[in-house]
Amino acid sequence: MKVVMVGTGYVGLVSGACFSEFGAEVICVDKDDKKIKALKEGKIPIYEPGLDEIVEKNLKSGHLEFSTDLKSAAEKADLIFIAVGTPSRRGDGHADLKYVFAAAEEIANSISKYTVIVNKSTVPVGTAQKVKDIIEKSNPNADFDVASNPEFLREGSAIEDFMRPDRVVIGVESKKAKEIMKSLYQTPSLIKTPIFFTNLESAELIKYASNAFLATKISFINELSMLSEKTGADIHSVAEGMGLDNRIGAKFLQVGPGYGGSCFPKDTLALIQTFEDFELDNKIIKSVVEINSMQKESMIKKIRNSLGGDESGKVIAVFGLTFKPETDDMRDAPSLTILPPLVEAGAIVRAHDPEGIEQAQTLLPKAIEYFPDIFEAADGADAVILMTEWNQYKDLDLQLLKNKMKGKIFLDLRNVYEPNEMNNAGFDYYCIGRGHNF
Ligand code: UDX
Repeated sequence: MKVVMVGTGYVGLVSGACFSEFGAEVICVDKDDKKIKALKEGKIPIYEPGLDEIVEKNLKSGHLEFSTDLKSAAEKADLIFIAVGTPSRRGDGHADLKYVFAAAEEIANSISKYTVIVNKSTVPVGTAQKVKDIIEKSNPNADFDVASNPEFLREGSAIEDFMRPDRVVIGVESKKAKEIMKSLYQTPSLIKTPIFFTNLESAELIKYASNAFLATKISFINELSMLSEKTGADIHSVAEGMGLDNRIGAKFLQVGPGYGGSCFPKDTLALIQTFEDFELDNKIIKSVVEINSMQKESMIKKIRNSLGGDESGKVIAVFGLTFKPETDDMRDAPSLTILPPLVEAGAIVRAHDPEGIEQAQTLLPKAIEYFPDIFEAADGADAVILMTEWNQYKDLDLQLLKNKMKGKIFLDLRNVYEPNEMNNAGFDYYCIGRGHNF
């Protein structure tokens, strides 16, 4: 099966590489010359565990190619995936579809036989029909079907998620397209995976609904953590006790400084916009977004209060900057909201992150200093903030840390440590939603 992937961003690259691992002949196309040149040499522009090995292996075997020439790749393709970016449109939160539509137009004039054109980019419900209209208009002779095949990849475990997903969702309009999609996903690692076929619109909505629902679980537990702190309840026990009910489930009930990343913040806003486009009010998702902002703000207060209400002149070491571990992605990372006001108020911020420093430097205030070593970052610090739960921070040498620091404040925004353990080690320990904290 010949597959073309348009766009070598996060989703396009992971999907293209994994389809080649399934045995398809894949050409990943991008307009960015430099990126394609680097990819041809096996250089991966993002940090995603396991991706480099799959790319290298399939480049060598010839199953995977990279190209800037969409036309000649598309001519022979059985399937063309659109995996270009759909950023939030400035000002209104709508998903910006200009790259999707431009790709559709180019594809329309490139195909030469029956081709299934599949949307993998996260797009508002109704986009597949618009893509179909664009292709029909640009090339009335085009022989094609459209399909929608949203991705549910988590950064940091995207390869595993692609190879062993909970489900594959595919929206189609014809039997022919359904059969081709089915055979693409017929691979040993997916034998037990439900392949769920539905119509185009439902597939598009499943993606947004899933992300909004997961974001809802996070905002739900984060909001509840505020009540836990006031009442003496322990949010971990609350989440565990709730999660034992199979109808609720224990996953995505981990408190933190608010969700971030390339999907939840953007997709919740886009879904609210879609409700508005259809003149429908939406209450739940709006609250989810609001609680997420509140959570980040309440982290700033927590830090400020721990420092006696004034952070000016205080040295703060920050462990972790990315929105989650195992990625270098800084998009909508809580650190981007939490750290600037501290710097502005005169705090001296010393940061460490295993992978995210390069990206962080371009987005965070210039005054922040970066250190390749955790304990160097903590040298002379009044307070440590554990912002992202990288493995490196989970088993810290607490005595060494304490000796390096000037003060003894430890703010654990991911609840990695146990309060007793930290208090015994001599820290003034602050976490989220566990008893009487502020
Ligand atoms: C998410 C979805 O999980 C994935 O299916 C979709 O395709 C893309 O968006 P990702 O953004 O990579 O994936 O990360 P995820 O692990 O879902 O975490 C998102 C954010 O929520 C992170 O900031 C994380 O720290 C936060 N989170 C997650 C919590 O605060 N608590 C949780 O219990 C889970």
